[in-house]
Amino acid sequence: MIVAIDGPSGAGKSTVAKAVAKKLGFSCLDTGAMYRSVAWLAVQKGVALDDDAALGELAGACRIEFVHEEGDPIPKGVFVDGNDVTAAIRTADIDRAVSPVSAAPSVREAMVGQQRRIGEAGDYVIEGRDIGTTVFPGAEVKVFLTASDEERAHRRVRQNVDRGIGSIDYDEVLEDLKRRDEHDSSRSTSPLRPADDAVRLDSTGLYIEDVIDEICAMAQRKGA
Ligand code: DC
Repeated sequence: MIVAIDGPSGAGKSTVAKAVAKKLGFSCLDTGAMYRSVAWLAVQKGVALDDDAALGELAGACRIEFVHEEGDPIPKGVFVDGNDVTAAIRTADIDRAVSPVSAAPSVREAMVGQQRRIGEAGDYVIEGRDIGTTVFPGAEVKVFLTASDEERAHRRVRQNVDRGIGSIDYDEVLEDLKRRDEHDSSRSTSPLRPADDAVRLDSTGLYIEDVIDEICAMAQRKGA
């Protein structure tokens, strides 16, 4: 079974996806981390962020691996071509680079192929922007998770403080979120939008546990 969780940055997708996967005993895939890994590689190799052909070559050839602790379906880290990029893909530089990289059609084609191969291997909760629309249009559960801009910026600042990486300036984070939303929603390939049959959940002011329980209940009604 596939549980697709799409939505804009900072809506709480990662927290919710991990908790839902744990409760259901599913694996969990963070597709944003895959686009971030390609962006990291492009920056390392000095590839121009508007060079679709060169970016596509990178994306097609790179090996993205999620590492797990034994028995834990939630990945602890991400490696790209053998380099541990778990922290490096969360910096403000990569926040900026990932928008043009993820808009490149050749990169999306390569990533969607990899995501399908991963998801087809078992029961997965997959978070991203286009999971319910493009990657797994037949997903049994589709959720489009949103929250107000201000709530999302506050959450992202708290997350960056906890992780010790990324900007902790509220105004800067808010501006960055809005810029990325605009970019993600207006690109021509797989823009951010809810699938027609997605359940829309606005988590503003809700307890995250209630959101998690609601998604688990949807999956259980589908036989999870
Ligand atoms: O979820 P995130 O903030 O880590 O995602 C990083 C970037 O990747 C974000 O700018 C949108 C893009 N992305 C995408 O285009 N499609 C996905 N399925 C996941 C992420």
